[in-house]
Amino acid sequence: MKILLSDWHLAPFRVEKFLTQKRNFIEIIIQYFAKKFEDKEKEAKMLESIRLVVKKENIKVGYFNGDFMESRRTERGMNTTEDLEKALELKAYIMKKLGLILAFFNLGNHESGYDLPLCTDAEKGINWQAIKNFLVFTEAEELYCSFYEDNSKLIFVPYIFSEEKARDFDLDAEKKIFLGRMREDLKEDIPTILLVHDPDSFDDVELLGLIRENREKIKFIFFGHYHSWINLFFMRIMVNVYGRILLFPFRCFVDLFFFALTKGDVHIVRELGIYFRKRKNIPTIIRELGAVLIPAPTGTVGIGGGYLVLDLGKGTYEKKKI
Ligand SMILES: [Fe+2]
Repeated sequence: MKILLSDWHLAPFRVEKFLTQKRNFIEIIIQYFAKKFEDKEKEAKMLESIRLVVKKENIKVGYFNGDFMESRRTERGMNTTEDLEKALELKAYIMKKLGLILAFFNLGNHESGYDLPLCTDAEKGINWQAIKNFLVFTEAEELYCSFYEDNSKLIFVPYIFSEEKARDFDLDAEKKIFLGRMREDLKEDIPTILLVHDPDSFDDVELLGLIRENREKIKFIFFGHYHSWINLFFMRIMVNVYGRILLFPFRCFVDLFFFALTKGDVHIVRELGIYFRKRKNIPTIIRELGAVLIPAPTGTVGIGGGYLVLDLGKGTYEKKKI
């Protein structure tokens, strides 16, 4: 029995993290709910709820599927010494509170840095220092991470496949190295479980091809980043609105809605359009692969919060609500 956790977005730098980022409407909404989550009582309730399940089901080990913590400069990932120190401190605190070992961590966008449509920091994006700190945090030597557990092999797919370029290193070369290792790993005839941080990574043709080639061997595909079924539902609507010609009138309406919400920021409206058009196949791929969401404790706007318990021995999993 293992516990799969994802997207806690612990926020030790909740004021500082916005110093390099212009706040926009979505950030304001996120912040509102993040504040609710940071309420000590809520956090304590969440930890207690997980602790009781860990104790009752005698769970010894947990895996964290990315976005454990938000960094000092949110869009730059954990690239400062303060980020690393805080992350280590929080990891020790959480393990003690839950009474279990968080054995492996995946790289989420909040660890690597990210460049998404609403980002405004001039130094945003995936960067090597953030990845180096992440490797110190996870006590790993390289980004590729696979391991054996209960006669299965588990492979982490990090956030890097969701973006096209990094700030200061050759991201394509890193992806190639990663895929080479994954291809070798998948040659072994053993039930395999993929833990993908962001299902938008399925947009990477080579990664998706490799998964499809080995789909029979892959017992489960779990993913995070979307936090709750509501985000998946919303994404499905948006990719249809932006991707189907017949729904063009709705697209005009949605564009106008975003235009009003952003107080006339044409750049954001355009970026959102590009974002949803680029991800037009993601909901279909998630369905085709049978990929399963690991909910974040906060869910989306407080709805759908939880985590996942995986029984490798029985080959089953159960989503738990907070
Ligand atoms: Fe994420």
